[in-house]
Amino acid sequence: MALLPIVKYPAEILEIKCEKVTKFDANLHQLLRDMYETMIAADGVGLAAPQIGVNKQIAIVDVDDETGVIEMINPEILATSGDQLGVEGCLSFPDIYGEVNRPYYVKVKAQDRFGREYIFEAEDFLARAVQHEIDHLNGVLFTSKITRYINESDLERYEEE
Ligand code: CO
Repeated sequence: MALLPIVKYPAEILEIKCEKVTKFDANLHQLLRDMYETMIAADGVGLAAPQIGVNKQIAIVDVDDETGVIEMINPEILATSGDQLGVEGCLSFPDIYGEVNRPYYVKVKAQDRFGREYIFEAEDFLARAVQHEIDHLNGVLFTSKITRYINESDLERYEEE
C-alpha cells in the first residue's frame, strides 16, 4: 500500500485537461490501488489522477453505498437530467465547502481497468461525486461552480440533515 501526496490548489496540473489512458497495464492497476488507499485515508468520496500529480483521465468514486468503488478511465458524460443543490468539498481544497448546483442524474461511458468500455448511471449524491471527479479530468474545479460558500457552523447543520 502506498499513500500518495495530494496536490493542493493552486497547482497547474489541477487546471488542465488530462490525457487519455492508452495502456491498461499493471502500472495502471497499481495506481488505482494507491489512489483508493489515498482516498480512503483522506476520508474522501472521490479522487482524480491530477490530484495525485498524474495528468491522465483516471478517477475513482466511492460514496460508501452499495455501489462500491467506481473506476472511471477516459470517462465521457453521455446524458444528464434534473438538478440538485448540495454541498461539496474537495481534497485539493482543505477547509473549503460550498453549494454547487449539478444535474440530479448522469449517464457515463468509461473504460474499466482492463480497457473494457462500460456504461453506468448514477443519481443524487453519487451523480454529484461522479461529475465532480470528471470535472477534475477536464481541469474544472468545483470552486468555479460554487454559488454560496459554506462556513463550518453551516456545514454541521448540513451534516445533521
Ligand atoms: Co475534488
